[in-house]
Amino acid sequence: MKVLLINGSPHAGGCTYTALSEVAAVLEQEGIETEFIHIGSQEIRGCTACHTCAKTGYCIFKDDAVNTCIDKLSEADGLIVGSPVYYAGPNGALLAFLDRLFFAAKSGKFAFKPAAAVVSCRRGGASAAFDRLNKYFTISSMPVVSSQYWNAVHGNTPAEVRQDFEGMQIMRTLGHNMAWLLKCIDTAKKTVPYPTKEPRIGTNFIR
Ligand SMILES: Cc1cc2nc3c(=O)[nH]c(=O)nc-3n(C[C@H](O)[C@H](O)[C@H](O)COP(=O)(O)O)c2cc1C
Repeated sequence: MKVLLINGSPHAGGCTYTALSEVAAVLEQEGIETEFIHIGSQEIRGCTACHTCAKTGYCIFKDDAVNTCIDKLSEADGLIVGSPVYYAGPNGALLAFLDRLFFAAKSGKFAFKPAAAVVSCRRGGASAAFDRLNKYFTISSMPVVSSQYWNAVHGNTPAEVRQDFEGMQIMRTLGHNMAWLLKCIDTAKKTVPYPTKEPRIGTNFIR
């Protein structure tokens, strides 16, 4: 089993990474493989609503990691998305990345893969950013994995984050909870069929 961890921060080894690494270490201890994708400071275009992905399953823009990520996540069993908090939301490059990633997978490619969001902030806005990230999972039939508190760490440097003992424990609990759910799903696959899906209804609020 494998969990993909997307680090939305421009800092590959920063605060968000410090939190994600704590989750990843527990997953590895539990026998679950992990792989990081770092958004870094690459240029990420926003979704232009061209709807090409509805036909191809991939984004029309091929010059960043979105399409690679579609393939990696299709093969992975679980997902964790980490973001620094920028103005009480996830950082803009990550949102551009996730809009295109999830829009291209609207057909249900990621359904039933457990997912969780993790945020890192200096002081405030963590729960608003956390809520925004969870929206991607809850529109995609992805079971959301929780912890003992909302998944946030506090700090402006990795050293400060490591001093947030409660935050780091929240990350470890998240890792154990994710591992438990992945093992439950793996066991259930042999006996419990995935839910049947009705044809999609889209009313756009107009009858
Ligand atoms: C543009 C920008 C906006 C920020 N907005 C917030 C904020 O609203 N609340 C907060 O607590 N920290 C804010 N911060 C601080 C970062 O969220 C915080 O330092 C975070 O832990 C950095 O994570 P990283 O090292 O993974 O990039 C902001 C930082 C930047 C660069």
